[in-house]
Amino acid sequence: MCGIVGYVGSGEATDFLLEGLRRLEYRGYDSAGVVTLDQGQLNVTKTAGRVENLSQALKSKPAPGSLGLGHTRWATHGPATNENSHPHLGGDQTLALVHNGVIENYREIKQRLLEEGCIFVSDTDSEVVAQLIAFELEKIPEQAPGAVDPYAPLVTVVQKALAQLSGTYGLAVVFRDWPEAIVVARLGSPLVIGVGEGEHFIASDGSPLAGHTDKIVYLADHEIAVVTAAAIRVIHRDQGDVGHDVKALDIDTTEVGLEGYPHYMLKEIFEQPETIRNALRGRLDRDQATAVFGGLNLTPQQLQAVDRFVLTACGTSWHAALVGEYMIEALARVPVEVEYASELRYRNPPQDAQTLLFALTQSGETIDTLAALREMKRKGYPTMAVCNVVGSTIAREADGGIYLHAGPEVGVASTKAFTAQCVVMSLLALYFGRLHHLSYEAGLRIINDLEKLPEKVEKALETHDHVRQIAEKYADYNNFLYLGRQYNFPAALEGALKLKEISYIHAEGYPAAEMKHGPIALVDEHTPSVFIVPQGVVYEKVLANIEEIKARGGPVIAVVEEGDRHVAQLADDLIVVPKVADFLQPIVASIPLQLLAYHIALVRGCDVDKPRNLAKSVTVE
Ligand code: AGP
Repeated sequence: MCGIVGYVGSGEATDFLLEGLRRLEYRGYDSAGVVTLDQGQLNVTKTAGRVENLSQALKSKPAPGSLGLGHTRWATHGPATNENSHPHLGGDQTLALVHNGVIENYREIKQRLLEEGCIFVSDTDSEVVAQLIAFELEKIPEQAPGAVDPYAPLVTVVQKALAQLSGTYGLAVVFRDWPEAIVVARLGSPLVIGVGEGEHFIASDGSPLAGHTDKIVYLADHEIAVVTAAAIRVIHRDQGDVGHDVKALDIDTTEVGLEGYPHYMLKEIFEQPETIRNALRGRLDRDQATAVFGGLNLTPQQLQAVDRFVLTACGTSWHAALVGEYMIEALARVPVEVEYASELRYRNPPQDAQTLLFALTQSGETIDTLAALREMKRKGYPTMAVCNVVGSTIAREADGGIYLHAGPEVGVASTKAFTAQCVVMSLLALYFGRLHHLSYEAGLRIINDLEKLPEKVEKALETHDHVRQIAEKYADYNNFLYLGRQYNFPAALEGALKLKEISYIHAEGYPAAEMKHGPIALVDEHTPSVFIVPQGVVYEKVLANIEEIKARGGPVIAVVEEGDRHVAQLADDLIVVPKVADFLQPIVASIPLQLLAYHIALVRGCDVDKPRNLAKSVTVE
């Protein structure tokens, strides 16, 4: 979703701005722009389409200046045109603003400003904020020369404007007549400040800062900051001047590079043996045959008393939560409910006192998940985050949690975060299982299975070339079914989502047996079915489902375990993965499904890392 960068220092602002916008491309966007301030003038350059278009535009018309802002826009109000791109100018070109989030009451404010004679050039809610700040600026008296705080008027006008907004924002403003300061503000949409030597960087997440600084300040909701090359001043809406903590930024530049891979998605698929090791590192206690977590912040007594889990998330993270439901109920025998975060927030389901909420989120910024977590927190339930991005809003607001340690996930289609989330779910299942009925021996068996998992995933990655050939064979089909049972039902959902997201092919995931109750009507020679059919209690039943598809002329691609002797006789194409314990099957089976989606998308000429219409972190409701 939209991305913000900003720079103030002694270097050329556009150097950082362009590089930063490229690093934010993964969030998903459809236009980009920058503004710099040079010799008393704001220079705005905006282009629809990729950052590369913006870079070309800046080559033919450079924008010098050592203070500036940049933005990638994911269209919400109005199409992806140059006019609707940010930055937006306010007043008589007195300021320029970039904004992430949604202003819900922009229509009323726009109407009011129109009546005051204000002229708008875009359809956006963001331009309304720019014009509103400019309008407030015109109303304040001129400052006396030599004023103690030259930036006091900026704080005043931004605060006055923000007080009139309802909705969410992460925003940054530069003012023509204050050429040394950027004013930033946050409510519901993240903003960070990178601390350099005689320079500061602004960004909507930490990734543009890597390689520039390892010191980061996270702005909190209702805070405004005035950022100059030399200083940061943070003002809270209700508390006035507040200090700011400078934290360590834990991203290195190799983590955000392609490292020789053609796409981030492929790189991240191949990182999974390592990311799974990282998710497990230090969390297995062989001595006690259990898992250990540093950050749950609840006593063993409080954890023991938990009698129900609510797992909430969106998209791929929701699929990982579903895997978690199967794992926790089977291994820990504690009831689990999985809720779409967007539903949980408004559904108001009855919860009992010993319910523990886990919000699963790669980015830690998904607004639906954040809102659901806040709602549960408001009701007094302890809230936990299972999150990848350190220092993200959800990670900070939850009472406790578990980091994935998967490293930055840049590809919009989540891969390594999904498998890391499933691993964390299995650790929770082990932990709560051992708190309840699971024996020492059973705990050790699970630990042994988990320790072998990275090697098994390495082996599953060896299917790459074979999966590529299968992808070439099926890339022209326009409908797919993904079918699996038990632990592999969520894996089927996730396989279908991956294909949909990056190849724009219609794909549906179902529990394999459920297929008979409707989706079978879709089956013909033009609709391939992808079965996940490892050994286990329902193996024979899934074989029967494959027969049912074959009887109707449907092509079948099957993911099976090594040693399988039956499916080869039924399926058109076979993908063989290593055998693992049943609760780990969805992790291993997901590897070829990720590769299948990737290669089908490539054959169809799709942009796998930046699929159309999608955003990496969805910060609007
Ligand atoms: C995953 O491939 C998707 N891009 C999307 O479904 C994603 O999982 C969802 O938006 C939730 O994101 P989060 O994990 O960052 O909260």
